[in-house]
This record gives sequence, structure tokens and C-alpha cells, in this order.
Amino acid sequence: SVKVLKVSPVGQSKTAGEFFELTLERPDWDGWKPGQFVMIRPSAWELDMLWGRPFSLCSGDDASVTLFIQAVGRGTRRIAALKPGDSVAMWGPLGNYFAVEPDTPTLLLAGGIGIAPFRGYVEQHPQPGNLALFLAHRLPLDCYPYALLSRAVDCRCMLEAKPSDLDCIIEALRGLIEEYADKGGLVLACGPTPFMRTVQRFAGEYGVRAQVSLENRMACGVGACLGCVTRNGEGHHVQVCTQGPVFWADNVEL
Ligand code: FES
Repeated sequence: SVKVLKVSPVGQSKTAGEFFELTLERPDWDGWKPGQFVMIRPSAWELDMLWGRPFSLCSGDDASVTLFIQAVGRGTRRIAALKPGDSVAMWGPLGNYFAVEPDTPTLLLAGGIGIAPFRGYVEQHPQPGNLALFLAHRLPLDCYPYALLSRAVDCRCMLEAKPSDLDCIIEALRGLIEEYADKGGLVLACGPTPFMRTVQRFAGEYGVRAQVSLENRMACGVGACLGCVTRNGEGHHVQVCTQGPVFWADNVEL
């Protein structure tokens, strides 16, 4: 188990209250790659919450790792209530990771909390002039260390303030994916399932190589519970925790 170092709300607004960063002691790992995740479980949970919750690795250094979390259910609200010094069970890093092609124009597409792995991507693989980020998020920009990312990449942002904006987001995704298809680029996406389906659809239409990171429910994270199963492009079952969470968009059912 590891210790909680910091639990910090992201931003000050009321809406931002459900988003927070959790910084934990880093176990004795060799390292981790953007797209990989960890499972965490506060050791004080009751028996009905024995399983962990999966979170993308977001940032870190030799001494700590940081996760970006949205408190949407009982488990994540309990994680939000942790205090520095509390003990947490954490296992990982788990799963595969996003492709890195330094000479290929690369577009990162993040929907909401899907921004988490891309902070790590930008920090570990700075590619000035060759890396762009599109973020569709309903929070004010100061609610996420957006400035940190925008220093490292060509950053475009769209706020999902009301349902009608969804059409704008879809059209923005279409335009960006078409642009990266034209320049032989690589598209990496993480976000809610409808966001990923849109990316998958346009990637197929415009013929661009794209990877998507799935956010299926997980309990064990290590291939033991079969709770995360989906199908690949041939219709065969695949486990998101061990064969993903990152898949080529043309080879997974969303
Ligand atoms: Fe248990 Fe994938 S989460 S098998």
C-alpha cells in the first residue's frame, strides 16, 4: 500500500468540486507510460467495495504519481475524502499505452476527464510543433492546469457548456481528423464513449490512423474478473484491462 500525499480540488468553482487531483507516493516502479492506468482502493472500504477503481496515470516524478479524478459515484467520492497520510492500496501500472511517433504530426483528442493521460503524454513526449491537443470540457479553463499543457502543445479548446455545443464539438472533431488524415498524422483519443465513437467514425471515414482509450468498468484490472470485456474488430472478446485500454479505432467495438 502507498500513502496519500495530497488531495487537491481542481479550480475553485462549484462545478469544479467534483474534479480533483490525487497525489500518491510512488511505489518502486521502473516507470509508466501514458495510457497505462492504476487500480486504487482505500484500505478502509467495507467488504462490498473490495475491488478497486481504475484511473489513468496523469503525471508524476520519481517520488509520486498524480491522478486526475472526477467524483461521480460512491467510490470516487470516498477517494475525494482521503486525507494526506491515509493508506491506499494501489496496483499497477497496468495495461498498454498510446503510440509515440516523434516524426508524425500527432493530435490528442480529449473529452472531459479523458484529458488525464494526455498530461502525461505531453510531459513525457514533448514534441514542439508536432503535437496538438483538442480538449472538449465543460469546466472553466482555470479548472485544469490547461496553461501547463498549452505551453507544450498547440492547444485548442472547446467548452461543452450546453447540449447545442455538442454539434460544434462533432464538427470540430470532423475538421481536425480530416486535417490530420491529409497530413498523414496520428490521432489519439480519450473520453466518454459517445466522444470516442465520433472519433472512430471520422477516423474510418477519412482514413487516418487513430487509437482510442476505453473507459470500461473494471474491478480487478488484471484479467481475473472478466468485468471489462468488449469485442475487437473481428467480433472476438478482448479484455480492456490486459489487452487495452488503448486500441486501434478500427479494431474495437465501442
Ligand atoms: Fe477484471 Fe478486466 S477488470 S478482467
